Amino acid sequence: MGWLVEALVASILLSLCFAITESAPKSALVTKLPGFNGTFPSKHYAGYVAIDKERNKNLWYYFVESERNASRDPVVLWLNGGPGCSSMDGFIYEHGPFNFERKKTEEPRLHLNRYSWSKVSNIIYLDSPVGVGYSYSKNKSDYTTNDAETATDTYAFLIEWFKMFPEFQSNPFYISGESYAGIYVPTLASEVVKGNKNVMRKEKRNETSTNHKKVTKPVINFKGYLIGNGVTDQVFDGNALVPFVHGMGLISNELFEETKASCKGHYYNENNGNNECSASLAKITDDVQPLNVYNILEPCYHKTSMTAFDFGSLPPSFLNLGQTERPLPVRKRMFGRAWPLGQAVRPGIVPNWPQILADSSVPCIDDRVATAWLNDPAVRKAVHAKEKSEIGRWILCTNQIVYTHDAGSMIRFHRNLTLSGYRALIFSGDHDMCVPYTGSEAWTKSMGYKVVDEWRPWMSNDNVAGFTQGYANNLTFLTVKGSGHTVPEYKPREALDFYSRFLAGEKM
Ligand SMILES: *[C@@H]1O[C@H](CO)[C@@H](O)[C@H](O)[C@H]1NC(C)=O
Ligand SMILES: *[C@@H]1O[C@H](CO)[C@@H](O)[C@H](O)[C@H]1NC(C)=O
Ligand SMILES: *[C@@H]1O[C@H](CO)[C@@H](O)[C@H](O)[C@H]1NC(C)=O
Ligand SMILES: *[C@@H]1O[C@H](CO)[C@@H](O)[C@H](O)[C@H]1NC(C)=O
Ligand SMILES: *[C@@H]1O[C@H](CO)[C@@H](O)[C@H](O)[C@H]1NC(C)=O
Ligand SMILES: *[C@@H]1O[C@H](CO)[C@@H](O)[C@H](O)[C@H]1NC(C)=O
Repeated sequence: MGWLVEALVASILLSLCFAITESAPKSALVTKLPGFNGTFPSKHYAGYVAIDKERNKNLWYYFVESERNASRDPVVLWLNGGPGCSSMDGFIYEHGPFNFERKKTEEPRLHLNRYSWSKVSNIIYLDSPVGVGYSYSKNKSDYTTNDAETATDTYAFLIEWFKMFPEFQSNPFYISGESYAGIYVPTLASEVVKGNKNVMRKEKRNETSTNHKKVTKPVINFKGYLIGNGVTDQVFDGNALVPFVHGMGLISNELFEETKASCKGHYYNENNGNNECSASLAKITDDVQPLNVYNILEPCYHKTSMTAFDFGSLPPSFLNLGQTERPLPVRKRMFGRAWPLGQAVRPGIVPNWPQILADSSVPCIDDRVATAWLNDPAVRKAVHAKEKSEIGRWILCTNQIVYTHDAGSMIRFHRNLTLSGYRALIFSGDHDMCVPYTGSEAWTKSMGYKVVDEWRPWMSNDNVAGFTQGYANNLTFLTVKGSGHTVPEYKPREALDFYSRFLAGEKM
């Protein structure tokens, strides 16, 4: 009985302690945004969190409260990948509260997004690591970084953020992201779990001493995570392309059989001296190279300068491919290559996007709305970002960080997390050739968990929206039919559906 009373007293003291510290910082409130003249459906906050005051390392976030019930709904952290890409990609192009309409001469116009993930959750868009988006450090040597440091820095951010927003400490918390965030999410989740253990251990030790004010770190109410078309494991991801392009009808059956035989089913096998296999893989690359790697259904314009590009010259049927219910068109041009085709992220330095672009000369990027809007001094002021003169221009995917992938395969992280009771949704736009679903399907299966919900269609708006397979330990794999790499951009309605169901713990 004694421990119960003690726990009660501790929790009362704790809540008192946090009650007298500040709640949501008023100075971070975003009251208006250039391009939008309506009323915000919920409260928005933005600003910097100092994760290392001495070195002056600052991560910038944009926080959107839930439009339903902010005090009850979960808090979700969103991370875009790269490495080096700003999470404002998610905010502007994927599941943010606004749809951005590009205007030829004036600035973008913002319309409310009926499929915003803020319909059912509080959501934090974080520019991470420092050097990305609006996040910065006063010491540029901090722009040389890696997986481990990014995870500890992001955990430091979360701790400070929850101290600034104590009213959200008891909400369920989830971590989400896509692409290279397939590395960010599990490594951060592990950091959170470890950090929570340490905090609780310290609290317990401190129970006997009555000095409860010493408890400075909040416990994060972490429940689970979501990853879309995420990088996971170099072998699984590396082997994914050949079965994908075959299944999609992008190579001939003969070439598939030839490749299977010459590579003995192992397509990810660098410099193994197997010339026959290399030759088959080269043939496949020639076949699929001209496609839009992010969505094989979408056009990709090579050797077309950005300014010379004209949507009007496209056959309308092209523009309608993969169409779904959304008020504004998806981006038609993006980076033509994320990283060299068929090569998963390997240990070591990950080339940055401008370097890759320079190599492959694919001027296939559209970041115009985001770049114009986020570099407008009025917008930067409204979202409490430092001025251009201080931290430079906002760029969708920066080349100022030097990033080393050093965390290895994510599979052991997924195993630890799912076996510890954290729920995981691994979703995949099934027309993405950058991180094809075939890899995610294979590695989730390789975990060896019992199938508890056998492969079946899942529905959205009375239609098949994709397929799902559920495993024991709350691991769910889900495809989104006809979607490219950035699922909520291509399929916003379907994305909001599976997102809501996952957060609510409902069946897909
Ligand atoms: C807001 O902008 C829309 C066009 O985007 C316009 O139709 C509407 O009249 C404007 N409303 C106000 C209050 O200015
Ligand atoms: C929001 O959720 C809280 C906590 O569950 C509840 O007390 C409150 O009544 C809810 N508010 C509304 C408007 O539903
Ligand atoms: C930046 O950090 C590096 C590594 O910690 C340090 O050696 C260097 O002196 C710092 N530079 C400045 C200008 O503070
Ligand atoms: C109590 O908590 C503080 C802050 O977490 C810590 O520094 C201190 O070592 C703890 N005291 C004991 C006796 O463990
Ligand atoms: C998995 O959990 C074990 C036991 O808690 C721990 O020692 C190990 O470091 C964890 N591995 C990863 C990759 O998180
Ligand atoms: C799965 O998650 C639910 C909560 O949604 C939890 O009650 C259940 O214990 C979890 N199952 C496992 C095997 O972790």
